Amino acid sequence: MNPDDRNIITLVKQQYERFPYPVAIESLEQFISSGARQGGCPSLCFHWYWPYRAKTDDLDILIAGCGTSQAAKIAVNVPGARVTAIDISERSIEHTRMLLRKHGITNVELHLLPVEQVASLKKRFDLIFATGVLHHLADPVVGMTELRRALRTDGSIYVMLYGKYGRDGVYYLQELIRRVGLTAMNATSDDLDAIVSLINHLPRYHSFSAKREFFGDNMQVAEELVDLFLHPQDRGYSIPDIYDLLARCGLKMQRVLLRAHYDPRCSALRDMKLYQRVRKLPLPDQFAVGELFRAASLMHFFIACPNERADDTYITDIQCDHWRELIPVRHPMIDIKPSHASNTGAQILSSPQHQFPDIQYSLPGRESAFFRRINGERSVGEIMTTVGLGASDDSAAQWVRNFLEDLDAHDFIWLRG
Ligand SMILES: C[S@@+](CC[C@H](N)C(=O)[O-])C[C@H]1O[C@@H](n2cnc3c(N)ncnc32)[C@H](O)[C@@H]1O
Repeated sequence: MNPDDRNIITLVKQQYERFPYPVAIESLEQFISSGARQGGCPSLCFHWYWPYRAKTDDLDILIAGCGTSQAAKIAVNVPGARVTAIDISERSIEHTRMLLRKHGITNVELHLLPVEQVASLKKRFDLIFATGVLHHLADPVVGMTELRRALRTDGSIYVMLYGKYGRDGVYYLQELIRRVGLTAMNATSDDLDAIVSLINHLPRYHSFSAKREFFGDNMQVAEELVDLFLHPQDRGYSIPDIYDLLARCGLKMQRVLLRAHYDPRCSALRDMKLYQRVRKLPLPDQFAVGELFRAASLMHFFIACPNERADDTYITDIQCDHWRELIPVRHPMIDIKPSHASNTGAQILSSPQHQFPDIQYSLPGRESAFFRRINGERSVGEIMTTVGLGASDDSAAQWVRNFLEDLDAHDFIWLRG
């Protein structure tokens, strides 16, 4: 590691020693009793990673840059897994240790270790979580490559990276704050108050003001303000940047999560003349166009896997030959409202996970009847039979496949084998 990179890692470590993140919670009681799950937890979405395998807890999981609670939240819901968690912040590791002890969670091993040195564990993993960490590394390609080396060939990595366009205003403010000499290490609580005041007095045409609603309540406490505006190392990614990062690290895209944020068919683009051109592009380019159309994604979530992993272990394409045997699974977080437009049983689907409220999907009567029968157990062919659609009816088959493709693109279902 060169001296500049060492300096960056020191500054990042100092910030997370002074301001551990996420804001530390004293207990997992509420998390456990509410039945909540950590994003990407295999207890909920095992088949995102391995759609053709029977669900199991028998997994080696790495949490890279675990922060204060992520490892405990995953481990408590996957008790049969062997979880390893690493971070450079001693305070975050200590806080995690306290949560593990408090809740009697025994399947986690903690290490004070940078992602860049994960090879020193001499372990391979089925599943790696890298949420909110790679964009803080001196060189994300180095960190991601090390993680890929620690992944089994049939493994997956669940990633969250910051969005370049959604956070553009944040990056202007980070620079402004750096220019006046404030850092995560010297800022006092008065300085943090001054930053809040600055934010509250931005002109309405500032990029941050335009997107402020998307940041919700994330500016209430010192840890949140510092993580947002005083971070010493923070870069945002576009969709093409992500594909480029994966290509440089020997990884390929397995699944773009929150796909509706990017897929042009899930935005107003779908009804525009330009869409005829857009839909002819390869999917990653369509996603790049969809991203630029909204230009406001704060975070990107996706799953990647090693280049060597066989396609038929993870691709579930409703346009494939064995489409009738695929099993649609409903996303557990869907808001379903009756449509006011008719009394035919039509419904409107939306998701609290989507950042953009315009992402909705209307289910007229026939689609609604089909959707109601999706229970994560019945195959597509079985559902077709229960709603009276003949297996040999070509137009019914095409309708079903297009409908399920649409639901998948909107993140309302996924498919498993
Ligand atoms: C924004 S927090 C995210 C925590 C956790 N992944 C989550 O999603 O709740 C980033 C964490 O990454 C850790 N981190 C930053 N650079 C790191 C590095 N090079 N190696 C390991 N951990 C690192 C920080 O100490 C911090 O705990």
